[in-house]
Amino acid sequence: MDARTPQIAGRLDATRRRTLDLYAPLPEEHLVAQPSALLSPPLWDLGHIAAYEELWVAGRLAGRPSLHPGLQAVYDAAETPRADRGDAPILAPEAALGYLDAVREVSREVLAASDLDDDDPLARGGFVFEMVAQHEAQHTETVLQAFQLLPPGAYVPPARPAAVPVAPDAAGAWVEIPGGTFAMGAGEDGFAYDCERPRHERRVAPVLMARDPVTNGAHREFIADGGYERPELWTAEGWRWRRREGVVAPLYWEPDGAGGWLERSFEALVPLDLDRPLCHVSAHEADAHARWAGARLPTEVEWERAAAGAPCASGRANLGQMSFGPLPVGTAAPAPSGCRGMLGDVWEWTADTFSGYPGFRAFPYREYAEVFFGTAYRVLRGGSWATQPIAARSTFRNWDLPQRRQIFSGLRLARDLP
Ligand code: AVJ
Ligand code: FE
Repeated sequence: MDARTPQIAGRLDATRRRTLDLYAPLPEEHLVAQPSALLSPPLWDLGHIAAYEELWVAGRLAGRPSLHPGLQAVYDAAETPRADRGDAPILAPEAALGYLDAVREVSREVLAASDLDDDDPLARGGFVFEMVAQHEAQHTETVLQAFQLLPPGAYVPPARPAAVPVAPDAAGAWVEIPGGTFAMGAGEDGFAYDCERPRHERRVAPVLMARDPVTNGAHREFIADGGYERPELWTAEGWRWRRREGVVAPLYWEPDGAGGWLERSFEALVPLDLDRPLCHVSAHEADAHARWAGARLPTEVEWERAAAGAPCASGRANLGQMSFGPLPVGTAAPAPSGCRGMLGDVWEWTADTFSGYPGFRAFPYREYAEVFFGTAYRVLRGGSWATQPIAARSTFRNWDLPQRRQIFSGLRLARDLP
């Protein structure tokens, strides 16, 4: 047997165990309710994970019929957009779990019968199985965004290792990245999404990158300095958004009544930890904070270069849904560039809108990335504490609308060299 086959099967199984562990503490009332128009009822994600796997493995790769042909549309992300998912006729909890199991059984058979050196690009190297595992992993992050929206205490995370006490050294250091050429994007080998390819040469000017992401403490200073009241710190679009929405602090921050701030964890309202990376800000807030700090957001190529070779192993990066929040800066190990926490903790907003690299070709479907290309979506990089390691790499590109902040989003500063 191909040595890669049991590895791929193991990754599918490990991802599924994680999905089920994550859902286990969720009360049934919150499984079926839609927490916000921006997110699905968590029960929809379960059926969607099964339907996506069935479409790609049983359907496209093996040419087998669907167990629930009538449900493919309900579980298709484009045909049933998030806002409509609360009223969609989806499978009940037991049936959704049964669908996940039944599809997985078929996937195991198809995998065992697949030639991973086949000419079919869906089979070669196990591409479609990797895609399915990473898709499921990505949805567990989306589901955590939904759980975070629930009142504190409604979702109590599964057991987690005790936090490792660290003495974070002062944030605020800068790393100088010299100019030069850089091979941006994923190469031919291994799994990557179409929007990470093709790898191409880019010329980059020298830049100063902040060693660490922006902390809660720095953003508290931004607020104290009138950051949310000074239009000159904001783009025109950002200021319109801020006024329209009445935003005066990051999502999930609440005044403590004594001039300080509380922050929502999953279990409770807790005093804001000033040493942790700022999370749940929009691209507009990130941009205003950077301008206030006399800096700017990094471009994607600057970010990717600073992140090259960054560790993603447990204990060296805060990935994999272990900590249920960002950890103090200084906990995550540095990339070869010297920048820390490039992978994990919080997604970092970049200055760039989402577009295809030169020579981009959609594969295996346009709806993963290409339909989102254009000026509406902004790119985030790096993954968060809620990103699983199989879906985290320095070339990975995430995207969202600039006003979104239910995602685990923060920022890192960049500066031109004088
Ligand atoms: C890459 C996170 C923007 O959630 O819309 C999930 C990932 N694609 N199912 C999304 C995805 C299909 C995607 N993001
Ligand atoms: Fe999906």
